[in-house]
Amino acid sequence: MHEETKEITDIILELAQRARQETSMEPEPELTKSVQWPVQLTIGPGLEGAIACESKIGYVNGTKGWLVYRGYDIFDLCAHCTFEEVTYLLLNGSLPDARELASFKKKLIRYRFLNKTLRLLVGFPIEEMNAMGALRLGINMMRQEFTNIDKEEARPATIDAIGSDEDSIAMETAPKGDIRATYEFKQSETDKKNKGRPKQLDDGHGMEACCHLISGVSTLTAAIAKIHQKHMPIEPDRNLGHAANLLYMMTGKKPTPLEERIMDISLILHADHGMNASTFASMVVASTLSDVYFSVGAGIGALNGPLHGGANEQVLHTLMEIGDPGRVKSWVDQTIADKGKIMGFGHRVYKAYDPRARILGTLAKLLVKENKKVKPLFDIAEELEKEVVSKLGAQKQIFPNVDFYSGITYSCLGIDPEMFTAIFAVSRVSGWTSRVLEYLENNRIFRPRALYTGEFNRKIVPINQRS
Ligand code: SDX
Repeated sequence: MHEETKEITDIILELAQRARQETSMEPEPELTKSVQWPVQLTIGPGLEGAIACESKIGYVNGTKGWLVYRGYDIFDLCAHCTFEEVTYLLLNGSLPDARELASFKKKLIRYRFLNKTLRLLVGFPIEEMNAMGALRLGINMMRQEFTNIDKEEARPATIDAIGSDEDSIAMETAPKGDIRATYEFKQSETDKKNKGRPKQLDDGHGMEACCHLISGVSTLTAAIAKIHQKHMPIEPDRNLGHAANLLYMMTGKKPTPLEERIMDISLILHADHGMNASTFASMVVASTLSDVYFSVGAGIGALNGPLHGGANEQVLHTLMEIGDPGRVKSWVDQTIADKGKIMGFGHRVYKAYDPRARILGTLAKLLVKENKKVKPLFDIAEELEKEVVSKLGAQKQIFPNVDFYSGITYSCLGIDPEMFTAIFAVSRVSGWTSRVLEYLENNRIFRPRALYTGEFNRKIVPINQRS
């Protein structure tokens, strides 16, 4: 293991020790057992306190700041595993052995290549679209290209655009010098021959489609980042791990072992988190027996909101607005007085430190040492953390959440702020798909009720008498 990455493992294990000294790691009895349905519950607005289902995939003890995936503590997973191992764990219930991991990685690498989807994607005004909107568009195109969900007969074989073969000629059809060339490839001879079905995945409900999406969301996110930078997408590198390949496709540079490890850990940290809004949204769609492409699309829509996944980008804007550690106190006082929400703080479940914020804060501190541009923002963030915790920690159990330091970490890795939420999706697609697969084993359509507080027995007045 590389010296620098070994240092990270030691740092995370130290953080784990400190967290365990501060809070015990015991499960909440009422939330970690099987029940006889229906159950009596106290439920608040926004389904606060409601139980959606039983699950073995992950557990959050909000009062203790404890996060578990399939029985493994998040600190241990970050210290000893890769995102591929953790994704395999979430999907299958156990960590892979060497053979299982090798074949899982091979599958994810195969699914990285979305040539036709990317060719279609660049035909849309992606540079004008919100990254998450573009991501949803890309998911829909993956659904079209790789499944026959909508049509029984085979879709006519089409070519793989970017990876053209010997007798197709790449022609730049846009006028020279255009910011973004649109490439058209002649149909190759080999393609003319085999009018067979394109490589079809399953009907969009199974494990293959989930793996396809886990890999495809990464490729799409990187492609959207490049198009937003007014460049063409970069072809995936089959020799890189998932985290390294993501950074390579986003920045055009192969990451250092340290950057790769920190990206890998960030992906592990964001992979699953119980019944958060985006996971629940994806499960609601799945519960109607729609397909996993639509489920992931719903998750992306929910994650886009600034109260959920969009907070990390807002945090950076907050830090830039504050501008100086000396202005933190007055900014916090004013925001509290205005009853404003401080992005990157607070949580529906955590009433203690989000363990992910502990780890990401430490990783950010490591990265800013070499990053003079981001360091001033980190200094403000540290001051803001101290001030908010002192003002709202004990009083309102408001602490930093996963979004508070992730933006600083991603900035140091060369990721643009507008892509932060999409990076969240690159990781959370593992949690979304794992929980969809699990829920479908014992499916029941989600259909809560609303308390009707409207009127009754109103009489229809003819339109010409309505004022
Ligand atoms: C994520 O669910 C998940 O697991 C999500 C997530 C995941 O991994 O999927 O963990 C990822 O979404 C993290 C959260 C990122 N969002 C933010 O950082 C946005 C800022 N946070 C808040 O909007 C808020 O804390 C929520 C939305 C996260 C939680 O809100 P709740 O549980 O609905 O709490 P609330 O709005 O009812 O607030 C309770 C009190 C209020 O004060 P009072 O009206 O009682 O006086 O706490 C205050 C709120 O004003 N409060 C805050 C605050 N969050 C809550 N005050 C200032 N700043 C904040 N951030």
